[in-house]
Amino acid sequence: MSKFYISTPIYYVNGSPHIGHAYTSVAADVIARFKRLDGHDVFFLTGTDEHGQKVQKAAHDAGLTTQEFTDRVSGEFRDMAARMGVSNDDFIRTTSEQHKRCCEVLWRKLCAADQIYLGSYDGWYAVRDEDFYNEDELVTRPDGTRVAPTGAPVEWVTEPNYLFRLSAWQDRLLQLYEENPEFIGPPARRNEIINFVRGGLNDLSISRTSFNWGVPVPDDPGHVMYVWLDALANYISAVGYPDETNPRWHYWPADLHIVGKEIARFHAVYWPAFLMAAGLPVPRRVFSHGWWTVEGEKMSKSVGNVIDPRELVETYGLDPVRFFLLREVPFGNDGDFSRRSLVTRMNVELANDLGNLAQRSLSLIARHLQGRLPAPGEETTPEDVAMLAAADALPERLRAQIDRQALHEALEEVWKVIRAGNAYIDKQAPWTLAKTDQARMASVLRVLADALRVVATVLQPFMPDSMAKMLDQLGVPETERHFAALRMKLPAGTVLPAPAGVFPRFVEKTA
Ligand code: MSP
Repeated sequence: MSKFYISTPIYYVNGSPHIGHAYTSVAADVIARFKRLDGHDVFFLTGTDEHGQKVQKAAHDAGLTTQEFTDRVSGEFRDMAARMGVSNDDFIRTTSEQHKRCCEVLWRKLCAADQIYLGSYDGWYAVRDEDFYNEDELVTRPDGTRVAPTGAPVEWVTEPNYLFRLSAWQDRLLQLYEENPEFIGPPARRNEIINFVRGGLNDLSISRTSFNWGVPVPDDPGHVMYVWLDALANYISAVGYPDETNPRWHYWPADLHIVGKEIARFHAVYWPAFLMAAGLPVPRRVFSHGWWTVEGEKMSKSVGNVIDPRELVETYGLDPVRFFLLREVPFGNDGDFSRRSLVTRMNVELANDLGNLAQRSLSLIARHLQGRLPAPGEETTPEDVAMLAAADALPERLRAQIDRQALHEALEEVWKVIRAGNAYIDKQAPWTLAKTDQARMASVLRVLADALRVVATVLQPFMPDSMAKMLDQLGVPETERHFAALRMKLPAGTVLPAPAGVFPRFVEKTA
């Protein structure tokens, strides 16, 4: 069984989870679930990034000790993962002893390889981004203040710092991108990163002295490690580093880091440079997705339009929310969140297209065939063959799309089959055949049941609960819901439970 290691970023615990965080986690979850159903040994990691100035400041503002605060907010992220149906295999916290030990060993390894030196940093820093900026990157606002290109406030820092010899890795990084065209996705982001690295790299400050909420630098405890070095190391500490005999270590290197576009550079430039410098293998791929705005506006606390994933799930249900997030926007692009489009997708694509197809097919089986799955017809028409061929081709087509993280294309592919299913049932009209040709009706219903089974099987990663219900109704045993099981047809005569709608229409409550 081949291994597959996939991660989400670890989330800063300076504030509660919102829909942007849920998005990253759900997308990674779909891929993790897909790979499991496709027979891989998956390790799926998420967790929280708990050090740094931003978190320390948020704790201070909340009037709590930093540890109390991080415990609380980390718990909220753990809870978000559970509520969003995220099937992570572990949840890492960077304040854990194992993780701090990993950072220490990594640091010493970099020192031993002469990759770190003591110097000083005089320059701009944005706490909100936990990032350093050059003078020429700053943007002047109409009111004359200068901010980071992300809009974050900046402060001037003059500190003795340890620096990592990032500048020495420019050629090796370019070679890595050249030799591994799949290393960064989507392609637009790849070009951005390559241009950034071609433009030349400065050595990177990797310690701070003006606050203490971080992993102490070995042998120089007046410094704490830069939060990004600490954070990126989570991906190896969770699989046991530095203990390479840890049973999880075989998962390294990661197959896929899913990240938001604003942190692609940390993952595709700094992270492989740290790893190569420490003599460790680099991840196989970093894919970055876009950002959500809300009803056309940037999501922000000050605007008051931050979307709480808990509220969404309570209002619309978990699976419709998961479906919407991945269906509405091509994965990799920016998108806009609106309740109206969510409800439209629920009612059109889930309730009408998929829900009705299943309900119509299954209720005819219940009504006319005593709820028993019919045998495949002895004579098949070209339409039957085309319908089944379209469904049977899905796992293979989706595999290619999931490997490119084209999650929206995967859904579109499934919806083509669902729409073909609706056209097929309308044309064959089994409700009419019930009166004229019972044998033909039975074969039509069998084609539909078989096609629906494939559809429900491949949609499990996106909508695990609803598809489990649909597969129950189709009489598919729980052990036969992985992709390889699709080769075995269900026995005729299988007794199906009474059909019940899986996707009710959503009707807005009028207050
Ligand atoms: N702690 C760092 C990551 C360290 S990984 C070694 C961090 N954390 S974060 O909490 O700020 O963001 C984590 C993820 O949430 C990112 O992938 C980011 O893109 C995502 N999102 C935050 N707001 C978002 C939107 N409005 N839209 C989509 N995703 C966004 O960065």
